[in-house]
Parts: sequence; C-alpha cells; structure tokens
Amino acid sequence: MKYIFGNWKMYLNTQQSIDLAREFAQLVQDGDGVEYAVFPNTLAFYDVAAELKNSPVATGAQNVGWTPQGAYTGSTSAFMFSDAGAKYALVGHSERRHVFGETNEDVRKRLEASIDVGLTPVLCIGETKEDRDADKTEYRLKKQLLKAFENLSLNGNRVIVAYEPVWAIGTGDACVPEEAQRVINLIKQEIKQYVDTDVPVLYGGSVSADNVVSYVSLPDIDGVLVGGASSKAESFMTLINNAISA
Ligand code: PGA
Repeated sequence: MKYIFGNWKMYLNTQQSIDLAREFAQLVQDGDGVEYAVFPNTLAFYDVAAELKNSPVATGAQNVGWTPQGAYTGSTSAFMFSDAGAKYALVGHSERRHVFGETNEDVRKRLEASIDVGLTPVLCIGETKEDRDADKTEYRLKKQLLKAFENLSLNGNRVIVAYEPVWAIGTGDACVPEEAQRVINLIKQEIKQYVDTDVPVLYGGSVSADNVVSYVSLPDIDGVLVGGASSKAESFMTLINNAISA
C-alpha cells in the first residue's frame, strides 16, 4: 500500500484543519513507504500547507480552476494552489461532477491545468447507482478514462487515479473489496491504452478504520482516498495505524 489520502471536503474549519494536520504529521514517518496527503478546504489550505511543511504529509487542492489568473470570481487556479505549496489536486471528484455539474470536458481542463503547473492530479472516476443497476459500470469508467486520457501529454508528470463508485461515497455502503480489486484491475488495463507510465489506482468510498486493511491488502489497490473517516482525529489515526501495520 502506497497512498493514504484524506479528502476533508467542507467538514473542518481552519483551526480544526491545522490541528488534524498536526496530529497526522506526528503519527507518521518518512520511512513508512507511504505517500500521505490531505485535501483541506481552500481557505484553510495555506495554513495547513505551512503546518505540514517538512513533514511526511503533503497538501492537495480539492478542486482547481484551469485558467492561471483572470476574471473568474470564486475560483482558485491550479497555478495558485501550486504557488501555495500544493503537491496534488483532486480532479473530477464525484461531488464536483454530480453536485456542481462538472462535465468530462471540465475535468479534462482541470487535469491539463494541474499537469501544466506540476501538480500531480488525482483523477476521480466512478459509476453511479443507476449505471451499476443498468450494468453500465465498465461503460462509464471507460468513457471517463477516454475523455481524461486520450492524447493527453503528461510531460513527465505523474498522475494518480481514484476509483470511487458514486453509490459508495459517504453512504457507509463500501464496495466489496474483491469487486474493487476487479474493477481497479480493469481500470489499469484500460489506462495502459493511453499512458505508458505506471498509474497508481486508489480506492475511495466509505473507507473506514475497520475496512481499510481489506482494500490495501489487495494486489491492484495502491492506496485509499478517504473522506468522512479522515475528518475526525480518532477514526483517521486508527485508520492510518491499521493500514500501515497491515
Ligand atoms: P467517503 O468519501 O470516504 O466519505 O465515502 C470518499 C471521497 O469522497 O473521496
């Protein structure tokens, strides 16, 4: 297991974010062989990045604007996050796609903008419950991957993919680990058509301290993107301990 990422969504205020970041940084070590990152809200970002400077935990943006600077009220660009110390950027998170109506085309622009400024994008893909019920999981994932990766130049940049079934996010109804392993294996085969570097694929969707080991012990699952359980000190610290001692 190589990645433990915590997506704090809009759960924590600035002081809570700083406190949790500090606790996280104190728990983990550089030699763990794990890449750690948190994704605080935009307002808390700068203070969290400062708190985590020189620690094993990186900071990432929850979403990035694609134009570096300009008349885009309410937006914060990939360029600005990079300038403020971000290493990663979530791109195409399910809540951006489904609550804010972002299209595959928007996702592509955010992906390219992240790569342009040297951020490592964490491209989130996943099928809805309707897709799943209609047996369209593979179709949906292949389409999201095609739109994101076709003719994309990485320019030597890394990219990470997070498989997050929409029906599993924030519901407590996590994807069965063997099924996540099967789908992630398919995703990896598919990505090879577009990108000739190794692309790690994480699982996300109701990951908890109790189930994390069942995901990270499977061969194709390179780590986890954790939402709700990463926003509370007790559950997140237990989750990390369980994952790294597995
Ligand atoms: P969850 O969220 O762990 O609360 O299901 C995961 C995510 O949205 O990345």
